Amino acid sequence: MKRLEKNGASVEVWRDLAGLSERGAELLREIAGRSIERQSGFYVALSGGSTPKALFSLLASDLYAKQMSHLWRETQVFWTDERCVPPDDPQSNYRMAHESLLSHVDLQASQIHRMRGEDEPERAAEAYALDLNSSFNMSEPVFDLVLLGMGADAHTASIFPHSPLLTDTEEVPLVAAPYVEKLQAYRLTLTLRVLNRARNIIFLVSGSEKAEPLRKVFASSEKDEELPARWVRPVDGACYWLVDEEAAALLD
Ligand code: 6PG
Repeated sequence: MKRLEKNGASVEVWRDLAGLSERGAELLREIAGRSIERQSGFYVALSGGSTPKALFSLLASDLYAKQMSHLWRETQVFWTDERCVPPDDPQSNYRMAHESLLSHVDLQASQIHRMRGEDEPERAAEAYALDLNSSFNMSEPVFDLVLLGMGADAHTASIFPHSPLLTDTEEVPLVAAPYVEKLQAYRLTLTLRVLNRARNIIFLVSGSEKAEPLRKVFASSEKDEELPARWVRPVDGACYWLVDEEAAALLD
């Protein structure tokens, strides 16, 4: 593994997707253990996409599932974002996480808080904000861990380039239902107000199509509406970038 310091962020470059998934699984286990010790619970938000899926499959393997069963029992699972489709749709982030991870580990239905992609988007976003408010014992939700991917257009969660959700103000809701022009579809997403309050954020970035956006994300520290991933900066937490060699190809 090679570590690069980039604009105040620490970037770990692993050989391939398998390497970064292993590191992601170790970090998740460590953070879950620490969170449970501190406050007897672990609150995690999952993302969709192919990179998180590799991590989920590893966590579902016998080795991890057994070692972590005491941790899963104290875990509350949320999502960073969701596609506006029913939960059994192949595009559903819930379905992907359920099939690759959640159905293989020691979790009860009451510990799984999915975004209702099948409902009218605004209503689903409001309902999810209520779920956050009642699940967290504090005025603003503070996740122990947020797992994020980054698209080739540098979107993260479902905050896309030029989104009105690219703002640091507190005036945005906790959960939004943006219409994404390039997808011609609505999405549900946690906003930066929630993401940036997390105690830990792990970005998982793999593949050569991420090399150019990743270079741009670390090229300067100025916030740029073209690069939503750059807006993710925990106010009082740690941010880990786990990337593979292909994605890191244009970072020095
Ligand atoms: C989604 C996401 C999204 C994803 C990135 C990276 O639902 O699409 O949550 O933000 O994490 O697009 O996805 P890949 O790892 O597949 O490139």
